[in-house]
Amino acid sequence: MRTLLTSALPYANGPLHLGHLAGAYLPADIFARYQRLMGKEVLWVCGSDEHGAAITLRAKKEGINPKEIIDKYHELNKRTFEELGISFDYYHRTSAALHHATSQEFFLHLHERGDQFEVKSQEQYYDEEFKQFLADRYIKGTCPKCGHTEAYGDQCENCGSDLSPTELINPVSTLSGKTPVLKETRHWYFKLDQHQDWLKEWIETGKVDGAQQHDPKAWKKHVVGQCLSWLNDGLRPRSITRDLDWGIQVPLEGAEGKVLYVWFDAPIGYISSTKQWCEENGGDWRDWWQSEDSRLIHFIGKDNIVFHCIIFPAMLKAHGDYSLPENVPANQFLNFEGDKFSKSRGWGIQLHEYVEEFKALPNYKDALRWALLRNLPEQQDADFTWDGFVEYHDKDLADKLGNFINRVTVLTHKYFAGRVPDVGVELPAEARAQVQAIGNFIEEYRFKDAASAFVELATFGNTYLQEAAPWTLAKADPNDPKIAECLFVCVQIAAALALTATPFIPFVADKLREVLKQSPATHGDWQLALDALAAGQPLLPAGHEIGTAGVLFPKIIDRKDDSRLAIVQKQRDKLTAILEQDASTPEGESAASREPFKPEITFDDFTKLDLRTATILTAEKIKKSNKLLHLTIDLGSEQRSVVSGIAKHFSPEEVIGQPVVVVTNLAPRKMAGAMSEAMILMAEDEAGKLTFVAPPGGFGNGWTVR
Ligand code: 2FM
Ligand code: ZN
Repeated sequence: MRTLLTSALPYANGPLHLGHLAGAYLPADIFARYQRLMGKEVLWVCGSDEHGAAITLRAKKEGINPKEIIDKYHELNKRTFEELGISFDYYHRTSAALHHATSQEFFLHLHERGDQFEVKSQEQYYDEEFKQFLADRYIKGTCPKCGHTEAYGDQCENCGSDLSPTELINPVSTLSGKTPVLKETRHWYFKLDQHQDWLKEWIETGKVDGAQQHDPKAWKKHVVGQCLSWLNDGLRPRSITRDLDWGIQVPLEGAEGKVLYVWFDAPIGYISSTKQWCEENGGDWRDWWQSEDSRLIHFIGKDNIVFHCIIFPAMLKAHGDYSLPENVPANQFLNFEGDKFSKSRGWGIQLHEYVEEFKALPNYKDALRWALLRNLPEQQDADFTWDGFVEYHDKDLADKLGNFINRVTVLTHKYFAGRVPDVGVELPAEARAQVQAIGNFIEEYRFKDAASAFVELATFGNTYLQEAAPWTLAKADPNDPKIAECLFVCVQIAAALALTATPFIPFVADKLREVLKQSPATHGDWQLALDALAAGQPLLPAGHEIGTAGVLFPKIIDRKDDSRLAIVQKQRDKLTAILEQDASTPEGESAASREPFKPEITFDDFTKLDLRTATILTAEKIKKSNKLLHLTIDLGSEQRSVVSGIAKHFSPEEVIGQPVVVVTNLAPRKMAGAMSEAMILMAEDEAGKLTFVAPPGGFGNGWTVR
């Protein structure tokens, strides 16, 4: 059985951040590396997604050719993936001629079937200056529901309403800033609605055309849930062409100036990536895509579920020759220090920045892989923090793994001149079971559990060594056979760790194997190890000479050397600066005279705010920030933690006991390491001076303000 893996093709219009790596690439890399070590035939394809309105728009705005953008980011993303050990078999690009031809063929095949597309004419907004039809996102205007003036043509981010561009009041093109005109155009629609019934059965039961194609219980609940919610809403025909000059031409007469919608060609990119790999490495791409003897698995983030579980499968089925995915183990989102990654705010860290800025941290590539792995958003959203990064590194890698390997090598040299002692014992059953468990978890896409099992194996080794205490035995009798027995077992555990570390932390794994004087783990080695363990054979034979390890993972928190912590602290400082920026008004500028009145809101909008009276109980400065204070407030029924940007105006001492009015129902967020669970109302005068908003007379805590 072959295994074909795909990871979402990232758009080549910007760099990638930690959330991307955790979503669709790191899990797939672990899976791919494991399958290879199990001796399986695996092909893992990816590449750059180089079409779409976002790239076109950016190029138009910057007055450059889209090619300049995609070339830059294709190279950057490809290189960064390589640097972090992401071991794609092929990283293709959708601007390649092979991909254009593959997508056009696919489209024509569906077109020629005659029953998959319909052509519809419609009126669409057109920017006369840029001579371009406008995608919904590129039209802004006033929301007809709430009056928000910056609503998009597809959605108002203020009130959350779904909109269509013609509903907007005063629509404006984001390209030219001018009012667009309505113009007639024709588009090809893929009749997704006619795939509704079989898709529902497939998602619910795993059966297609009466045959069991996959086990529905093996799919993640949130993936199935999202699919069913789409299916229960009812599928509708989807337009798969666009009026753009960047993309793949619709290969039909009369369709000049039209390209395939980016989400039609992007998943076909997996097929062209496979074709290109076969061209360079041999073999027939159809054996991967159109054979019963091959399984297809898509690794993606949750925003791509509908495309991979509904639309692309419908395209594959409509085509007729292709197999469907066996699983789509989509991940949820990763947040960063309590908030969403945001490029414009600078919130988060991009992968190439990490590679650049963490170079001086030993094992920095694996340190990142490990921290992401321990906190993967597998079943729900997760939050990456620098505290977590440090802790996973120091506790797991340094204290447990590094320490164990170091002690085992030192003791083996001390008592057996660095050679594996010759004793006839087997690896304890617990350790064998743990090795088996790591693999089983990976096979089930439970990568976090796999990482925990790996840590447990290291913990088992440490405990075993500590309890056997060969140093104590040696004092009583240097020839006690238990010393050899203990170190034999420990060396085997070290070898098991060095092998099973490979999918997770491949650079460190190679280092560990070097310490054990083994070559890097390669195709089939995991299976060989399982066979050896099952047959009661050692992973490292008696007499095998091992090297010494030294300090494999210098800790980040180290009282004698703060250079590693300084690398992390630099990141924390950046975040503090952003928070200060968020919390401050430029000095010397008058807020009152600068800010125009905000647009009208409804009474309902106003009543959504939960305003209460409270008293400040404690106040302290936040380290490294001259703008933020960390406060506790008394709300009568409860106390809450608040981070407030008032440190330039008030000292901690003078605000203790201060009566305040607070907003209690803003989503809590973490700022500079502390939770902020309410917001204090302040009045700002023309000179930018802040005053607490509080009634002059006495009041009780927790009173509502209306
Ligand atoms: O969401 C994205 O970043 C898309 N570029 C993913 C495409 S996945 C696939 F279909 F190619
Ligand atoms: Zn609105």
